[in-house]
Amino acid sequence: MSKKPFVVFGLVLVLLAVLIPLWAFRSAGDPARGRMEVPENLKAGQTGFQDNCGNCHKLYAAGTKGDYGPDLDQKLAPAGTPEGPDAASQIEGTKTSVLNTLQEGADDPTVPGRMPAGIVAGPVADEIAEFVAETAGRG
Ligand code: HEC
Repeated sequence: MSKKPFVVFGLVLVLLAVLIPLWAFRSAGDPARGRMEVPENLKAGQTGFQDNCGNCHKLYAAGTKGDYGPDLDQKLAPAGTPEGPDAASQIEGTKTSVLNTLQEGADDPTVPGRMPAGIVAGPVADEIAEFVAETAGRG
């Protein structure tokens, strides 16, 4: 009996053993953009941040590297993402301050550059602020 079918079958198995993990690894994030995998409810905010804020701001969770404005991981959560019993209220506070900045803009004379008011508003601003507040401090 010919051994050929077994050899072919073996080769297919080896290929699958290599290709499936490689594929799973590649789809587990978006290495090209370097963004972090986030829960479903933060995804719209993540994309919104990449599209509207990332050119000016670095934020690890969004994989953005803009350096016209401040690094938001440093600026908003220098001690890392809040943890413990006060985490929820700290995150809420950060969200409110981000929403304020979006509404009013920012022009601190000690900081180079200025951020114009009204880059985004309404539900989009809310999604972005939620995403930023929940994820700042990871990088
Ligand atoms: C055109 C560039 C630019 C874009 C786009 C931009 N920002 Fe800014 N942002 C800045 C600059 C510059 C500062 C610093 C301004 C200052 O403090 O005077 C800043 C400051 C901030 C601050 C810190 C404010 C503070 O002092 O507490 C937050 C938060 C912020 N931006 C969030 C965002 C978000 C969210 C977006 C996207 C919707 C965004 N920015 C889009 C330039 C930008």
